[in-house]
Amino acid sequence: MTNSRSSALITGASRGIGRAIALRLAPRWHILALARTVPELETLAQEIRGKGGTCEQLVVDVTDGRAVRSALQGREVDVAINNAGVGVMKPFVELQPDEWQLMMDVNLNSVYHVTHTVLPGMIARSRGHVIIIGSISGKAGFAGGAAYSATKFAVTGFAESLMLEVRDAGVKVSVVMPGSVATSFSRTGRDQSWKLMAEDVAASVEFVLDTPQRMLVDRIEMRPLNPPKKT
Ligand SMILES: NC(=O)c1ccc[n+]([C@@H]2O[C@H](COP(=O)([O-])OP(=O)(O)OC[C@H]3O[C@@H](n4cnc5c(N)ncnc54)[C@H](OP(=O)(O)O)[C@@H]3O)[C@@H](O)[C@H]2O)c1
Repeated sequence: MTNSRSSALITGASRGIGRAIALRLAPRWHILALARTVPELETLAQEIRGKGGTCEQLVVDVTDGRAVRSALQGREVDVAINNAGVGVMKPFVELQPDEWQLMMDVNLNSVYHVTHTVLPGMIARSRGHVIIIGSISGKAGFAGGAAYSATKFAVTGFAESLMLEVRDAGVKVSVVMPGSVATSFSRTGRDQSWKLMAEDVAASVEFVLDTPQRMLVDRIEMRPLNPPKKT
């Protein structure tokens, strides 16, 4: 498909933060919306097209490196937003091998698959932006989050190292680190009204993207102003 707009790839675009980012960028960017859930991607694409935007759905499991490469190879991706993520929060001694592996595969290894596929094109064009949705858990651990926090520390280090590697090539790398956000990520059923909204994170992503070419916001952190007091 040819498109005059620059393209923004968003993984985990079917709901939550990824969906909010897609809707936020859609007035100006061609959206490549990647996730596994077809009906949710379809609803997103319809909403974007209904407002005059353009959106392609990529039904891909980000843990499948071969599928990621086959969906993205040959595409001109101007911005890649690595957002897909999962969290299984429980005491480490109760964490099962498949739960550990899932977090490593979705939160960390997918960043390799996606970024490694689209980065050579960005370097060749001397422009592009890789954004990683990290977390405040990527700078401070918490009980019950040993594996999740490990993946978020990992992507923080990845982003900083890659940034130093490709900035001279004209490619920006940024990590966006939210605290708690009200999405379906938390399955506790507890009140989420005190949390950040997915739209708050999306606005931060747009800010990071909209800086002048000479300026790189390599890391941005945000957190709810007034979380519940610990008892
Ligand atoms: N919510 C928070 O409090 C919070 C705070 C800080 C950082 N974050 C980070 O923000 C990111 C988005 O989280 P969220 O709160 O928006 O979560 P969410 O509402 O649960 O959405 C997760 C997204 O990831 C996608 N995804 C999961 N596994 C996938 C796979 N194997 N292949 C492709 N896509 C997959 C899901 O799509 P499908 O299921 O359709 O594939 C979905 O679109 C994550 O990286 C998370 O760690 C969240």
